[in-house]
Parts: sequence; structure tokens; C-alpha cells
Amino acid sequence: MKKRLYSSNTPPSRRVFMAGLASTWALPIVGCGGGSAGSATIAVSSTTITAPGKNTFRAPTSLANTATVPQSFSATLAAKATSVQLATGAATTVWAYNGMSPGPLIDVQEGDTVSIVFNNQLAQESTIHWHGLPVPPDQDGNPMDAVPPGGSKTYTFTLPKGSAGTYWYHPHPHMTTHQQVYMGLAGCFVVRPLVDPLAGIPERVMVVSDLRLDVNNQITANTPMDARIGREGNQLLVNGVRMPDIAVQPGTTERWRILNATNARYLRLALQGHTLNVVGHDGGLIEQAQIVTETLLAPAQRVELIVQASAQANQSFALRALAYDRGAMMASVQVDDVPVLTLSTTGGAAASAVALPPVLRSVAALGNPARTQSVLLTESMGPGMGGAMGGQFLINNKSFDPNRVDLVSRVNDVEDWLIDNQSAMDHPFHIHGTQFQVVSRTTGGITTNAPYRAWVDVVNTRAREAVRVRIQQTMPGKRMFHCHILEHEDAGMMGILDVLA
Ligand code: C2O
Ligand code: CU
Ligand code: CU
Repeated sequence: MKKRLYSSNTPPSRRVFMAGLASTWALPIVGCGGGSAGSATIAVSSTTITAPGKNTFRAPTSLANTATVPQSFSATLAAKATSVQLATGAATTVWAYNGMSPGPLIDVQEGDTVSIVFNNQLAQESTIHWHGLPVPPDQDGNPMDAVPPGGSKTYTFTLPKGSAGTYWYHPHPHMTTHQQVYMGLAGCFVVRPLVDPLAGIPERVMVVSDLRLDVNNQITANTPMDARIGREGNQLLVNGVRMPDIAVQPGTTERWRILNATNARYLRLALQGHTLNVVGHDGGLIEQAQIVTETLLAPAQRVELIVQASAQANQSFALRALAYDRGAMMASVQVDDVPVLTLSTTGGAAASAVALPPVLRSVAALGNPARTQSVLLTESMGPGMGGAMGGQFLINNKSFDPNRVDLVSRVNDVEDWLIDNQSAMDHPFHIHGTQFQVVSRTTGGITTNAPYRAWVDVVNTRAREAVRVRIQQTMPGKRMFHCHILEHEDAGMMGILDVLA
């Protein structure tokens, strides 16, 4: 099945529906009932599907810090169903943190002690997971530590030196993570270093999500096919805004932190007429900037880019998610490319170029591994948890069991994990609790070393590819590892690592 989005070949009924939506995506998704200023008004623009770029870019709202002592960050996050006016006609029910989807940006510094009160005002259990951050296991929002409806929990952790990077937070309840995220619950979490080598370069945080609305403007439930291949929406949003436009003086240099907060969509990003300068991944800066024409952001991954806008005045360039075939049994998904946003230059003279430091920071190699853990990713057809069409998604031939320990390691031991994807589709593999480094990839009998060292917490494994990563857990306790296509995670493609003291 070929999914077509934003296509001129869309059947008439669907085209009318999407064009109707297109005219009203001018404001970020902010709840009417959440008390957020200005949220009740929806501006109407003349944007159409084929002419993106009329909506203004909106930065995420920062979560206010209520702490009264230095090096502390305190706040409350409440998850709650909220009604938002997204399109002409019926309001849309979303699930939001503090009335916002995406949730507010948490913006802290290395060394800060973070204390977040979570109020679960959903009708089902939930948790907040601090994706990628080195937080103790009992503070990490594991599915085994769910907060019941109406319940509260305070998450507390201190962010160590060296943890600066772009992270995120999202729910992680047993078997309903995919639903809570597609209903709107996710936010970005930036940790800043005390001294930033890229200080002075203006920055934008971009949370990319996708949303699937039905003809009544409601977020649809997953189909059996979604359960199998992972859900992709029919609206791609940046900070809740559809196809925003970023207008800058020609030649302007900016730093973009991009988070792929979708359940299953791969973002193979390219900026028309520009190269991209990759300066960081999930766990922060790399050693030297890498100039590329495109960068692949699998679900849950983040990238930091330095973008220097064209010196030409009055131009507009689309950032696109290029076609990417992530494979699937009986289905070839995501073969079309879609616009994400536009970068436009205003009139006037070009800003002067900004020189980047030749070395951004050092990314130390981990030592030799004490052991190798083997992780086999497979899928099988036939009846599974996802219903008649759902299959089984397995790790080491097992489906997730919250009461079972799958792998055992030891605090501070360096390990290699050999993640062997023997299935027919890509799986973005994620391990909680720490950042790791990709060592090499093997496919068709050929092994290729990673081109440079980087701290990451998600690695994409292509179909029939084995990826070797090096990792060191520094805190004892139980950690989740799983596919970050959230439908696969919830269908059982997850395990528990017990890190012994
Ligand atoms: Cu982003 Cu286990 O999660
Ligand atoms: Cu995580
Ligand atoms: Cu998967």
C-alpha cells in the first residue's frame, strides 16, 4: 500500500478535507481549556497543501521554573484531555501536558537538580519517561512504575556534567504508550552546558509530530495495519504548526534542534538549495561539524544542525522529509516525500557568515567491552496482540514481560550490544539510562565502521542489518530497551536489562 500525503493525486473527497484543514493550521495546538493565553483564537490563512509556508514558526513555550534556589528546576506537568479548535468545524480532543501539544519545553543546565510533579489527569495510567537522560531507574517513568488515573508522582534527578544535549519526555505506560503519544503527549527537554561552544548562534527547537485526523477532526484510533507497521499521520506538524515558515535575513546562521516525536515516521531531512551542517545528535555535540546534503531522523532521534540561509534575498526553501522506504511485510510505507517547513529570506543585505570552532567538544571512546549482548529483532506473521492483522514483534524470540529480566549487566562495565535486525523492516532501537556509541554496521556480509563518534540513545537498524553499539550503564537497576516504533514497543518488542551494582 502506497501512502500518499499532500499529493495532487489525492481522491477528491480527501482532497477537500485536507484543504479544509490546511487553511486553519496557523496556531500551535494549545488547549482552550488549559488557561493558556490566546489559545482560543485560530487564525485563518490561505495556505494550501501544495503551497506550504504561510504559517508562522512558533517556538515551544518554555516550562516556567518555580525553584527558589540556584541549580534547581521545579515545575508541574499535568496530562489531561483537552479540546482544541484545529480546523473549521468540530473541535479536536487531544491529550496535552499543561494544555499544550507538544508539551512545554524543559530547558535546564548541566548540574541542575530537576524536580517535576506529574499529575495524571487522564482516564488511564501513565508515566513520564525522560528519554535519553541519565536518571535513576526508579525516576525514569518505566511501565512498571505507572501512575494511576488521578494519581501524582514527583520525579527527581540531577543532570551530570557532560549531559548537555537534546532530549525529550513522553509517557511510557504498559501497552498504551503509542496511543498516549499519538494523542499528543510529548515534549522537548534541552540540557545546556555551562559553556557552549556555539553560544551566540540563535537557536530554534523543533518538535516534529504527525497527527491523523478523521473527517470529524478527531484523532483516529490505530487500524490493524498501524499496529503492524507503525502509525503515520496525515498532518506533519512542527511545534504543533503545520508547515511553518521561518523568515530570516539572507545569510543568517541558526542552530536547529530537531526532535522526531512521531510514532513511526522516518524523517530523511533535506533543505532545498542548502547543505546541512550536523553538529550534534541525541546526546549533544559531536567533535567536528559534518556537512551533509541530508540527514535521517528515525522516530525518537534528535539532531542539531547549523543552517546558514542563502545569501539571496526574497527566496523560499522547503525543508522536506524525502521519500524513505522503511520496509514492511505486504506494505511499502512512506514512499512519498513531504514538506516539513520553509526557510524564507527577507529583503536586504546578507548577514556575514559565522565561523564554527574547528572542534566542538571531545567525545571520548569507551574502553574495550567486558562482554557482548546479543539482541535479535524479528517479526512473525499471524495473530498477535494487535488483532487479526497484527503480528508479533519479538526480541530474542520473546514478547515483552514486565516481570522478566532479559539481559543482565553490571554498573560501569563497558559492553557491546549486537543488535541484529532479521526482520523485513527498519526498527529504531533504543536503550534507557545512558547514551551509547555506534561502532559498526553489517549488512550483506560487509561491515562498515561508524564515520565518527557520537552520543546517541536510538540507533536505526535497517532490515537485515546488524548494528554494533558500545555502551556503559552507570546506575544500578532495571532499564528498558525497545523498538521506538511505539506500536512495536507496545506489541512486545521490548525487554528489560537489569544493571547489577
Ligand atoms: Cu522514548 Cu522507552 O522511550
Ligand atoms: Cu527512552
Ligand atoms: Cu520496530
